[in-house]
Amino acid sequence: MSLKNPVALEFLQLRRSRPAKTLIEPAPTRDQLLPLLTAAARSPDHGKLEPWRFIVLNKGAMPRLAQLTEECGSALGKSAEDIAKARSQFDMGHLAVAVIEVQKPSAKIPAIEQTYSAGAVCLALLNAALAAGWGANWLSGWQTHDRDFCQKAFALQENERVAGLVHIATEGKAPPERPRPDVDGLTQWVSE
Ligand SMILES: Cc1cc2nc3c(=O)[nH]c(=O)nc-3n(C[C@H](O)[C@H](O)[C@H](O)COP(=O)(O)O)c2cc1C
Repeated sequence: MSLKNPVALEFLQLRRSRPAKTLIEPAPTRDQLLPLLTAAARSPDHGKLEPWRFIVLNKGAMPRLAQLTEECGSALGKSAEDIAKARSQFDMGHLAVAVIEVQKPSAKIPAIEQTYSAGAVCLALLNAALAAGWGANWLSGWQTHDRDFCQKAFALQENERVAGLVHIATEGKAPPERPRPDVDGLTQWVSE
């Protein structure tokens, strides 16, 4: 083994998200966010296609996104409860990074691998934010899968979709531990 980093390993073994609704001000500045985006962009990417990009949503963008969630929810016939829950991430949001999956034409790299890479970017951004001491949470919501919302909110093209909205701000209160998977039960060891 060439590179030992027990601190990083312990971080990965103990890390956990901080629910978006518990996050408080301040959110990272542009200068504080850039190193986190740089870490996230250093994610596995078969063929170096860079099948993702970032849209940083500052506090000032939140009312527009909440209102748009309301309008798209009504158009879809969503219940008042579904709409209120979906818009709450913007009503209470301080800063979120929309990780946008950008499907690139490739004869070699299947579309699903580009999707996996975009998911990896979301996790890498989440972990970078947590490692830097921020509270962070990877959210979606029905609106992030609605083309109308995505087009009006982020002007996404046909080959683009939201992989995740990673909220980043200051931890308000530490959440209780969440039951974790039984790794033994999930793991098959193959020796021949
Ligand atoms: C693609 C994706 C979308 C998610 N969307 C939501 C969401 O909209 N609302 C929510 O409460 N949790 C959502 N989660 C779950 C949280 O991000 C997270 O897994 C959970 O809070 C536990 O976090 P931890 O395992 O990092 O502690 C989503 C997770 C993934 C992978």
